[in-house]
Amino acid sequence: MRFDGKTVLLSGAAGGFGSRAAEVFSERGALLVLSDLDGDALQAVAEAMPGDVVWLAGDVRDPASHDALVDLALSKYGRLDIAVNNAGIVCPMQRIPETDPALARQVIDVDLMGVFYALQAQLPVMSARFAEEGTPAAIVNIASAAGLVGSPFLGIYAAAKHGVIGLTRSAAAEYGRKGVRINAVCPSFANTAMLTDYLDAAPAGREAAETALTRGIPMGRIGQVDEVVQAILFAAHADNSFMTGETLSVDGGLAAV
Ligand SMILES: NC(=O)c1ccc[n+]([C@@H]2O[C@H](COP(=O)([O-])OP(=O)(O)OC[C@H]3O[C@@H](n4cnc5c(N)ncnc54)[C@H](O)[C@@H]3O)[C@@H](O)[C@H]2O)c1
Repeated sequence: MRFDGKTVLLSGAAGGFGSRAAEVFSERGALLVLSDLDGDALQAVAEAMPGDVVWLAGDVRDPASHDALVDLALSKYGRLDIAVNNAGIVCPMQRIPETDPALARQVIDVDLMGVFYALQAQLPVMSARFAEEGTPAAIVNIASAAGLVGSPFLGIYAAAKHGVIGLTRSAAAEYGRKGVRINAVCPSFANTAMLTDYLDAAPAGREAAETALTRGIPMGRIGQVDEVVQAILFAAHADNSFMTGETLSVDGGLAAV
């Protein structure tokens, strides 16, 4: 899958999936617009890219940050072909009554409202270009297996990710005739800081925590970053031209059972 000359906007670009996806898009010819809350880490990722890149630190909870990224794509490259709405956080694993409401609000604001604001900024620009030139565009929202099935001890995260899938399907229906495909990638536990930080802090130790997490996964292991990145590329690629409103599970079979 090549992305020569395609403009790709990626949020959460300093993180596990984001930084690797940026690298692979860049190796395959894409022109990058990268963003993350962590400006220093973002700069380090951006400076390591083999191809064209611009970056802007920002918080996905701020609607203006999404407008600024779309403006940056237009001013630097003249268009926006692909957006990967990937930034996200998780909260500590706790039952719903024990979950701190302030933390729960933060998860909704970052994981759900962050995608909502991103779509608000991206869809008008992408659909306007399709109306003018007939050039289609694609958006990939990073949801989770927790967006498809209930997730004990991650209730508010599951609610936010179910919401992302609701937004994805609704946007796909709204923009099916306007040249924008919108799909969601749904990883389960994969090998990024989001998971490894949790495993390293587990009171029972990393090995026991990993065994407990993977017990319900038919393939019996956590996922690798590249396994998720492949699905992001597939969802984004122009050859994948009739798939929209879809959820791609990359979860070793977790959501299938
Ligand atoms: N790793 C997993 O097991 C897993 C599983 C399912 C879904 N996901 C989802 O994948 C996406 C990427 O996660 P990851 O595993 O690469 O985690 P990560 O922690 O490595 O990366 C997340 C990135 O998002 C950035 N970020 C956090 N809050 C932000 C904000 N308010 N504004 C802008 N950027 C912000 C962080 O700085 C970080 O660079 C997330 O949406 C996450 O929910 C991850």
